[in-house]
Amino acid sequence: MARTIDQVGVVGLGQMGAGIVEVFARSGLVVVGIEPTEDALERGRAHLQRSTDRGVKRGRLSAGEQQTIFDRITFTTSPADAKDCGLVVEAVPELMELKQAIFRDLDEVCQPTTILATNTSSLSITEIAGSTGRPDRVVGMHFFNPAPVMKLVEVIRTVLTDAAVVQDVVALARRLGKTGVSVTDRAGFVANALLFGYLNRAVMLYESGRASRDDIDAAMQLGCGLPMGPLALLDLIGLDTSHEILETMYSQSRDRLHAPAPILKQMVTAGRLGRKSGRGFYPYASPGSPAVVEDAESTATSGEAASESAAGAVNRVAVVGSGWRADELGATFADAYHVRLISEHDAAMWVRDPLPAALEELRTCDLVIDAGDDDLAAAQARFETYDLVAPGAVVATASLTHSVTACAAAASRRPDHVVGLQVHPVGRDQRLVEIVRGVETSDATVATVRAVVDRLGGRALVCSDRAGRVLHALLVPYLNDAVKMVDTGYATADDVDAAMKLGCGYPRGPIEQADDIGLDTVLAVQRALYLESGEPGLAPAPRLEQLVAAGRLGRRSGRGVRGHSAR
Ligand code: 3HC
Repeated sequence: MARTIDQVGVVGLGQMGAGIVEVFARSGLVVVGIEPTEDALERGRAHLQRSTDRGVKRGRLSAGEQQTIFDRITFTTSPADAKDCGLVVEAVPELMELKQAIFRDLDEVCQPTTILATNTSSLSITEIAGSTGRPDRVVGMHFFNPAPVMKLVEVIRTVLTDAAVVQDVVALARRLGKTGVSVTDRAGFVANALLFGYLNRAVMLYESGRASRDDIDAAMQLGCGLPMGPLALLDLIGLDTSHEILETMYSQSRDRLHAPAPILKQMVTAGRLGRKSGRGFYPYASPGSPAVVEDAESTATSGEAASESAAGAVNRVAVVGSGWRADELGATFADAYHVRLISEHDAAMWVRDPLPAALEELRTCDLVIDAGDDDLAAAQARFETYDLVAPGAVVATASLTHSVTACAAAASRRPDHVVGLQVHPVGRDQRLVEIVRGVETSDATVATVRAVVDRLGGRALVCSDRAGRVLHALLVPYLNDAVKMVDTGYATADDVDAAMKLGCGYPRGPIEQADDIGLDTVLAVQRALYLESGEPGLAPAPRLEQLVAAGRLGRRSGRGVRGHSAR
């Protein structure tokens, strides 16, 4: 039977620790908050004050309830004050020696029955447990930032942890209004293992200059419905904490994709730690404030000079292709343009035997969007034709994987008028549009497509020519990692989806999302990214290859990663 815990301790009252204290106290538990110095205690208390003040201001908490929360908390510099606690959670920086020293102290002062938990994001719980005389009563209790808001608690057991202790901690998480997911001791557990590879790739993309800060965040926030873009999220988590987590993950996985992007270290060294220091990827109104202030980067668009170039007028649009992607594009453009839908078959015929009537039709189009679902060679043959039949038009490839530059090379007369175009529906009437520049794409071409996006009421994002563009280049490897994780048996598809939804507020879990996008699309992008980079960590999950080979493509085919009919 689960043991009820009524009194808890929290060691370390930084951003996470103070949030954890708030969660416990709000749920009616008596809390002992511990920091080694009065100054640090004061900072923790101030954090809690700010957070609960906000609740009062928003009418979520009465002044009386706020007082009751504070009445339940004892702030102290002495670990011995935790001696009667049923559980103590440590939430200090990610340094093994520091954590082990704290666990040794707690082991000495606490009752033999006290559960000792660490909120570590990535360090080995087994190693921490080994520094105590009670490894069977040591677990990971991993909260997510902001702790009062996010609903997930990962409960991490080692090979030494008593099963009853895990049950007690899962029951406690439930009492806090959270969902406790029990997993074993592995770097990054479920959520961070999937999240931090993605965050690191976003930093690498930013560092490469291939897309701007605001465009990267807009891609993921608008295009995927995530509550925050990756760079804004890193600012929330703290760049120092994020760097530590990545270092630990890299030291365990040796996967280069976990090696922290160099700019992270540089920003930490420069004191740009994110929200808490008032400056990270974004500047904030003051240290600790969530309010972003405008800066020169706010309007930057990947080094574009597009606004200075004259945009050509687009009135008639042709969409070439016969799959669902072409249908969706046709419908999107029909909102604002006269659209002509042409099948790949008809387009292929022109290469050999131009049909005058269809040619006339295409000649009048100012924008030709190629949405053929086939290989690069077939697409290139069509691009050669577009050059002849629509000599004045901007020609776009809607492929997620074809190189814009390779398509442009086929349109040898005017490779400067070729771009990539990805339209992502955001809401009912909203769109995010990725405009992809090839090596030869001119500023005037980009300006023309920007004007088209404006007319469609979309948010344009300009990026360079790489597989997956911005959104899928960041999203797909995360989905691939999730499939790998399920395949290894570390977590079930349901646990993986729950972890990302509850821990990071994502509208869908990665397995659901992979099934929604289509496993064939996920595989095609992942393969292209792997080929482009040669990174072993980007190799497609073998399970993904098998599922696609078996015709399990996700929602469209009725079955995907999950065996049953996909929702
Ligand atoms: N403390 C307490 N409450 C907070 C808070 C904080 N720091 N920040 C926001 N809230 C509350 C607000 O009071 C508000 O509550 P209400 O609806 O009852 O009034 C609610 O959250 C929404 O806040 P806002 O309206 O101010 O702002 P947003 O709607 O933009 O939400 C957000 C802010 C909750 C941070 C949201 O953007 C989000 O969910 N972001 C994703 C965060 C995430 O991914 N976390 C996981 C990071 S990984 C991690 O922590 C693991 C670790 O090991 C690193």
